[in-house]
Amino acid sequence: MEGVTVVDHPLVGHKLSLMRDKRRSTKGFRQLLNEIGILLCYEVTRDLPIEMIEIETPMESMLAPQIAGKKLVFAPILRAGVGFLDGMLELVPSARVAHIGLYRDPQTLTAVEYYFKAPQDIADRLVIIMDPMLATGNSASAAAERVKEQGAKDVRFVCLLAAPEGIAKMRGDHPDIRIWTAAIDTKLNDHGYILPGLGDAGDRMFGTR
Ligand code: URA
Repeated sequence: MEGVTVVDHPLVGHKLSLMRDKRRSTKGFRQLLNEIGILLCYEVTRDLPIEMIEIETPMESMLAPQIAGKKLVFAPILRAGVGFLDGMLELVPSARVAHIGLYRDPQTLTAVEYYFKAPQDIADRLVIIMDPMLATGNSASAAAERVKEQGAKDVRFVCLLAAPEGIAKMRGDHPDIRIWTAAIDTKLNDHGYILPGLGDAGDRMFGTR
């Protein structure tokens, strides 16, 4: 599928299966989301530009690669998106963080914003929006719209599970934004939940149900 990378590494698939199991504890679910966050971060940053700098090893000088440009911005969509954040920050500790507070109106399934705080110079940075579940795509699309309003030009989206409906919405609204996901599931149910999915990611992370 154009613009969509399915990270089908065996470790990711295995951990995702553990997460889908309804018997998984809150602690286990959170831990696994964190671990998959690290693995997805590795993939979404695979093609970052590098520059060569001169360094001295204990043996001699050499030209060595370092990541070029300004620090990344990780942009979790609250609340489930924060489940990815710690893992990603472990891998890229210097990244900046933008918080995007959106909730889904249960009747209309549209995204309603309640909080937004991002670095001022977001326009000069690669912004990686993250949310475990790409379901209707309404929240993802609204989050993308919001960071673009702030001037972001280079935006990527990372999720754990994507529904075909969510992918279609994102690709339609934001064809410039590439998507990374651990799996593409079958479809949405009438309440906008992904099937077979894993239930409500926020509730499972925080034990709120
Ligand atoms: N949000 C969730 O947490 N789960 C879904 O299946 C869809 C949206």
